[in-house]
Amino acid sequence: METELSRIGISLPKSLLDRFDEIITARGYSSRSEGIRDAIRNYITYYRWMSDVQCERQGVITMIYDHDQRGLVPVLTDIQHEFRQIVQATLHSHVTHSRCLEVVLLRGEATQIKELAERLMSQKGVESVKLTTIPIEE
Ligand code: NI
Repeated sequence: METELSRIGISLPKSLLDRFDEIITARGYSSRSEGIRDAIRNYITYYRWMSDVQCERQGVITMIYDHDQRGLVPVLTDIQHEFRQIVQATLHSHVTHSRCLEVVLLRGEATQIKELAERLMSQKGVESVKLTTIPIEE
């Protein structure tokens, strides 16, 4: 439980803040501070695992890509086959005629999970790759 509060002052481009405000309003946050706290927590969760190299993690990759990008589909499949030791399952949804959403469930060494995410991310036609992982602890 977080009890002690610290105040910080930050400078942001107006356009960035406007976009942020639009989202927090739409999501029903009671204040900008609450939205920023939530964003910081997500940022920490997203990046903290990278420092825990040598540890086994459960993870999910959410990827959006252009189905019409020449040669991309077989490349993405090949990469996942290469990492078959850590890929547990894949879920595919055809979002539109040319956009695909794929969710890849993973379990393995953090370094390998990170490597797979980066390989997928670096392919031309991949619009976004979002990785979430959690440590496995008893
Ligand atoms: Ni598809």
